[in-house]
Amino acid sequence: MADSPLSSRIMRDLKRVEEELERVVFSDEGELCEASLTMLRGGGKRLRPALVLISGQVGSYDFESLILAAVAVELIHMASLIHDDIVDSADFRRGLPTVSSTKGLHVATAAGDFLFATALVLLSGLRSGGIEAVRMMAEAVNILSLGQIRQMEMAHRVDQNMEDYLQMIWSKTAVLFATSCRLGGLISGAEEEEVDFLGRYGDNLGMAFQIYDDVLDITGTEESLGKPVGIDLKEGTVTMPILFALEETRFERELCAAIESPSLTEEEVRRGMEIILNTRALERSKEEAKKYVERAIDSVRLLSKPEVREELVSIGKFAIDRYH
Ligand code: IPE
Ligand code: IPE
Ligand code: MG
Ligand code: MG
Repeated sequence: MADSPLSSRIMRDLKRVEEELERVVFSDEGELCEASLTMLRGGGKRLRPALVLISGQVGSYDFESLILAAVAVELIHMASLIHDDIVDSADFRRGLPTVSSTKGLHVATAAGDFLFATALVLLSGLRSGGIEAVRMMAEAVNILSLGQIRQMEMAHRVDQNMEDYLQMIWSKTAVLFATSCRLGGLISGAEEEEVDFLGRYGDNLGMAFQIYDDVLDITGTEESLGKPVGIDLKEGTVTMPILFALEETRFERELCAAIESPSLTEEEVRRGMEIILNTRALERSKEEAKKYVERAIDSVRLLSKPEVREELVSIGKFAIDRYH
């Protein structure tokens, strides 16, 4: 398996996205800049900017416009992570201490807001289609916020089902993937039908991605992920593996108690994870994620440019090879 499913053009242009991200974050000085820089320099996969650029090849590739959307989408993502770490009380992200743990909740809230707003300002500067792009992104942020609130409302409750879960991950994760793809298509002047194919691809890839992330929260290590594991159980976030484990163990008392508890000891988290690991929950979740990747791949089979289709398909296959 190749190290990266990205073409040399996309790899090269992502380096420019990186420089631009630094420049934008440095445009402010002081606390907000410092807070955002920690998030930026911690790394991250830059998957969403890559999706903007790849989708931007569907029509005619205009990097000077695409870079605005690529930077904007990563800023929105970073903002949502900073806020998510407040909600999850997480102290580690991208291998570094989180903004909320080093600078406090007030600065972290302001830093997230700063990044959200900066992203929208950037998009409004598009030579054409700026209003439509801002609208799409603002809508995505709107849905993302609803997803995060929903996650908080549903926390620690065992009376939820797969449909609730799928709706939640669509809002908090898949919508931003879809928006990245749609924006790339839109900026390149792709036909409406092709923009829809891209959107469907992003939706499905995003669903798969969050399911894999939820599996990794149980099977991964802090070292390899750069963020703590076991957070979902600790925060009472009922993910797909947890739902499958509940079903298979017929709502085992100890697992239910762990989900319902507002504060778990390390030992209780470990024990909860052990119960999940003793079921087929992780295997089944990965199978579900794989189906979403297959749907993503299927969504782009009618794209007119074979090379773009291949690049999108190889991202999907890369995800499957990586996680299975
Ligand atoms: C983390 O996203 C949040 C989820 C949607 C699971 P990523 O896994 O893309 O995070 P970075 O950008 O690589 O740090
Ligand atoms: C994704 O969910 C959160 C956002 C979309 C902001 P998680 O809470 O699972 O993400 P991680 O695991 O903290 O990266
Ligand atoms: Mg989190
Ligand atoms: Mg997670």
